[in-house]
Amino acid sequence: MSTRTVPAVRLPAGEAIPVMGMGTWHMAENPARRQAEIAALRTGIEIGLTLIDTAEMYADGEAEVLVGEAIAGQRDNVFLVSKVLPVHATYDKTILACRQSLKRLGTDRLDLYLLHWRAPVPLAETVLAFEELIRLELIRFWGVSNFDIHDMEELLSVPGGDAVQTDQVLYNLMRRGIEFDLLPELQDRGIPVMAYSPIEQGRLLPHPVLNAIADRHDATAVQVALAWVLTRDGVNVIPRASTKEHVMQNRGAIELHLTEDDLRLLDETFPPPLSAQPLAMY
Ligand SMILES: NC(=O)c1ccc[n+]([C@@H]2O[C@H](COP(=O)([O-])OP(=O)(O)OC[C@H]3O[C@@H](n4cnc5c(N)ncnc54)[C@H](OP(=O)(O)O)[C@@H]3O)[C@@H](O)[C@H]2O)c1
Repeated sequence: MSTRTVPAVRLPAGEAIPVMGMGTWHMAENPARRQAEIAALRTGIEIGLTLIDTAEMYADGEAEVLVGEAIAGQRDNVFLVSKVLPVHATYDKTILACRQSLKRLGTDRLDLYLLHWRAPVPLAETVLAFEELIRLELIRFWGVSNFDIHDMEELLSVPGGDAVQTDQVLYNLMRRGIEFDLLPELQDRGIPVMAYSPIEQGRLLPHPVLNAIADRHDATAVQVALAWVLTRDGVNVIPRASTKEHVMQNRGAIELHLTEDDLRLLDETFPPPLSAQPLAMY
């Protein structure tokens, strides 16, 4: 494997974050897998996948505990992302939820704190809470997740809303809806998209076209799926892998360069959107 540095995507605040990080949804749900999951995250950090995405929702907080164990002693090597649930998006509850996430993670700060999806709380109130968390130095940056174009427009119109650093959304070959409007809009504004479920939770693995392209490059279908997302400007990916082998394979996708022919075939097989579509989400 190449030891080349993992390329970066720049947040609007100027911070460089790796184009590939690691997701943690469904981790910490099975005690028999715990050590392998921790080892996978540690391997990822060693090979440059230093962004870890978690959430208070995952395994009811236990994924944060697991991440805390994985990053113990190397907190400064990691760009740590967590998320507040919409049900906690009021001013007071956001601050409390963040403090509880920090406790579970065993750290004194998050690098990026996201609103997990739209809440029945005015956006201005959640933004005020994020601003207070920054003032308290409990988070460094904030962003959102599962925000469609109209949500982003609304966010950008509230006081302080333009400090948003990312929109984490579902994006992969099978879920290309954001290419019609949301992605170009965010690219224009310099707000990166963090692509979640980039391998469609494993469902892209058996696809014959991905496997045919993979064979031509001596790669795997997962690597093709990840490399395709990484052809987009201002997009990074956070695949979840529970074994060291999968993490190392995923890292290898950064060095996989798809040809024009590959990209054409992928467009034929997974056509880009021809009209606006509601944002897909899990
Ligand atoms: N903001 C949101 O609403 C939201 C929603 C969904 C996800 N997310 C975030 O995005 C992350 C990624 O999405 P995801 O977990 O839904 O799905 P994903 O990353 O698309 O797929 C995960 C699946 O792919 C498998 N996999 C990973 N690398 C592989 C490899 N090299 N070879 C074969 N199989 C491989 C994993 O298996 P193994 O576990 O066996 O390695 C797992 O079953 C989440 O973990 C979470 O952090 C955010």
